[in-house]
Amino acid sequence: MEERAEESHIPPPALVIGIIYNLKHDSSGDTPDAQAEYDSIDTVYAIRDALACAGLGVLLFEVDSTLPERLAHNHIDMAFNIAEGTSGRGREAQIPALLNMLGIPFTGSDETTLCIALDKALTKRLLSTYDVRSPKYTVFGLHIKPDLSGMKYPIIIKPNAEGSSKGISDISIVNSDEEFDQQLKYMLGHYKGDMLAEEYIEGREFTVGILGNGQDMRVFPPMEISFHKSTRGNYRIYSYNVKQDYKNHVSYSCPSDIDKNTENEMMELSRRIYKALGCRDFSRIDFRLSADGKIYFIEINPLPGLAPGYSDYPMLAEFSGVSYNDLVLSVLRAGASRCGITL
Ligand SMILES: Nc1ncnc2c1ncn2[C@@H]1O[C@H](COP(=O)(O)OP(=O)(O)OP(=O)(O)O)[C@@H](O)[C@H]1O
Ligand SMILES: [Mg+2]
Repeated sequence: MEERAEESHIPPPALVIGIIYNLKHDSSGDTPDAQAEYDSIDTVYAIRDALACAGLGVLLFEVDSTLPERLAHNHIDMAFNIAEGTSGRGREAQIPALLNMLGIPFTGSDETTLCIALDKALTKRLLSTYDVRSPKYTVFGLHIKPDLSGMKYPIIIKPNAEGSSKGISDISIVNSDEEFDQQLKYMLGHYKGDMLAEEYIEGREFTVGILGNGQDMRVFPPMEISFHKSTRGNYRIYSYNVKQDYKNHVSYSCPSDIDKNTENEMMELSRRIYKALGCRDFSRIDFRLSADGKIYFIEINPLPGLAPGYSDYPMLAEFSGVSYNDLVLSVLRAGASRCGITL
């Protein structure tokens, strides 16, 4: 009898979660931000520890060409995807597409959403059909000549499909055709892919985090990024260098002191954008608020950085009382519940 009772209390085997990621390796490339988008192993370990603390089994998968084979030989119940992919405008879609092909459920948005969101101009064009205001822009590249008609200086030039402020620095804002041509040359010489020229929006900067889906979706209050000093020409931007040394350059506040109406408008707008792009489980959206109170969409990150003590998404969640481990588990739970998996 006793033996049977014991047997009936044996817990079911823990689910196994595979974390899939691209790691920063020794710098390659001719600019210091060449690997800006990739993760450090500390971030991977932080996610692993959060999952392991909840009693889940965890396997780690760094992305390389052997990934399909390794996924086929190591069973996982679900993937926790933070992989940026390998190259090209559609790189963030590579892992979700592979996981879909292999029938492995995964956290976060699908390949179509990740593909669109990584292309800033495409996202702006799509969101304009939902009446989302964003700065005037034009796209150009090695084979596409910039057409600045209808645009006013100052203009910011940034890569059209990068993140982590890669390619964004003090010299990114230009104020004349001469400066534009000079910066254009520099950008096309040092960064791959098309470039986006956008009217610079003078004003305050906010980022909004979203967690979950449908009825369970939670929109965190906007976190303001306040700049201690201006960059060349009295502009204030959250550039690559500012992000690297954020403690000396910016302060974060959440809730910020914007008026309640604007705060609600920004949160509601974030919800609409998330839905319009078909985002899942989590995302972070960047805005500028102009002096005349207009909210401008800058860009969305459906795979926001999860570096503890550094990335904006865990930081803004923490302001709302959600610890790093709870945040990671909530993202996993959102994905699992969407896929009908009981954790
Ligand atoms: N049109 C604009 N007007 C004013 N500032 C801008 C504009 N576009 C970008 N910036 C500044 O540059 C920063 C980085 O731009 P953006 O968010 O597009 O880059 P990113 O590399 O995708 O960022 P992330 O690290 O969030 O992925 C913004 O946070 C903002 O400070
Ligand atoms: Mg951004």
